[in-house]
Amino acid sequence: MHSDRHIVNLALIGFMGAGKTSVGRLVAELLGFDFMDTDDLIQARAGRTISEIFATDGEPAFRELERQVVEGLSTCRQTVISTGGGLPAFSENLAKLKSHALVVCLWSSPEKIWERVRHQSHRPLLLDADPQQKVRDLLAAREPFYKQADVLVNTDIRGLREVAHQVALQFRLALRPER
Ligand code: S3P
Repeated sequence: MHSDRHIVNLALIGFMGAGKTSVGRLVAELLGFDFMDTDDLIQARAGRTISEIFATDGEPAFRELERQVVEGLSTCRQTVISTGGGLPAFSENLAKLKSHALVVCLWSSPEKIWERVRHQSHRPLLLDADPQQKVRDLLAAREPFYKQADVLVNTDIRGLREVAHQVALQFRLALRPER
């Protein structure tokens, strides 16, 4: 871990449907931390849903709101931050998160992701003629960014609670003073 990092928070990154919000809430409970979700912050600030922002202003406007939210997170302390799936695909966002948070990626295969998101309709990026292919393509494009996380936890093979315990353990280990 770089010495210029001052880790006081835990950030969860990963693709849509990886379980970031559910796991994040559980991890916050386990660590006694606050919980925050970047999509919730964006929606609260804009007074609109993510789908509405995409539909009326387009994806670039959403990404700008996301960038602004990331900027403000550096003042958080003892907080588990769940992030939107595309957020770490912008290097500046990932670097900012890493300055104050241990970054944990919840990794899922495209097959598992598809199982989880196929009956949901609130994700504008999946409103596509071939959403399953879109999942594969987006995941492939984002994989190099997700793999820059400090820790990767495979969620295909574990339930939410087990993933949450694994994440909390990794956080405690990362903060342990080096001997
Ligand atoms: C997005 C993921 C969504 C939300 C927006 C864009 C993405 O968050 O930020 O729809 O680019 O993958 P979840 O990962 O929480 O679904």
